[in-house]
Amino acid sequence: MRIRPRRLRRNAAIRDMVRETRMSVKDFIAPLFVKPGKKIKDPIPSMPGQFHFSVDTVVREAQELCSLGIPSIILFGLPDSKDPLGSRSWAEDGVVQQAISAIKSRVPDLVVMTDVCLCEYTDHGHCGVISNGRVDNDATLELLARQAVSHAKAGVDFVAPSDMMDGRVAAIRTALDQAGFDQIGILSYAVKYASAFYGPFRDAADSAPRFGDRTAYQMDPANALEALKEAHLDMEEGADMIMVKPATPYLDVISRVRDITLLPLAAYNVSGEYAMVKAAAGKGWIDGERVMMEMLMAIKRAGADLILTYFAKEAAGQIDNG
Ligand code: PBG
Repeated sequence: MRIRPRRLRRNAAIRDMVRETRMSVKDFIAPLFVKPGKKIKDPIPSMPGQFHFSVDTVVREAQELCSLGIPSIILFGLPDSKDPLGSRSWAEDGVVQQAISAIKSRVPDLVVMTDVCLCEYTDHGHCGVISNGRVDNDATLELLARQAVSHAKAGVDFVAPSDMMDGRVAAIRTALDQAGFDQIGILSYAVKYASAFYGPFRDAADSAPRFGDRTAYQMDPANALEALKEAHLDMEEGADMIMVKPATPYLDVISRVRDITLLPLAAYNVSGEYAMVKAAAGKGWIDGERVMMEMLMAIKRAGADLILTYFAKEAAGQIDNG
């Protein structure tokens, strides 16, 4: 035999030298949940190791993530009250708006992103305005734009619309520019599937739809060409970065979108992906830390530049240990 692939696997030093994909803490965006109150750090039962924070404690968490070298966070809000339009989502004194300005003033080097969506703020739990029993696309755009501008006023760096309404990137871009925020970027959840993997998040964010489901706006898991269409549209509408979500069940989609975009590509390693690893590891059925690293590496290898992941803090520790 002249060709023996095992020569390149003979010891750790050689394997390290020829490794094709490398993880870095700089790849991570850590999701954080904020709610009203003080001194709150309540564990989220469906997501072991994740917490609901109040504005004061989320600042401390942000400082810790920044000191680990994690470059960015994305904030989700649990409002004090909900209504049909989700009006607390654009309130100047809203919990996310307060968290943005507190974090930007205390941890200025951290890139602060926000999820822009209505589902946590509407009493019906849908990601848009309901008219005649359906989610009204165009009526929702204005509310999303209002929310994005309110985050920009509070000092956010990037807004990340996750609602899957048609035309929302353009609507948000126009509104940000008109309000003088041409420097504030958009990370679009361009390719977001109607996935059962969001289950633990909906508990954490209290955002499950009270009737029906999200299949009339989020994508059919069977479709990949449609992912390319959605990616193209958001690029044309002015997205600065785009995202595929969920991540591990859609590695083929990440890889295909990587091939057609020149923008930084993010993938969201969602709550269900996280919770499954935690649950199986808790039972002693898998080695949780190794599965975590293998999962994140797979997402990176598929072509993601950035990974939104609840594992950010834990994986940062692993990477530092070499
Ligand atoms: C809001 C939103 C969701 C997630 C991110 N933004 C839930 C949903 O669409 O139902 C899911 C994140 C996760 O599961 O970790 N629309």
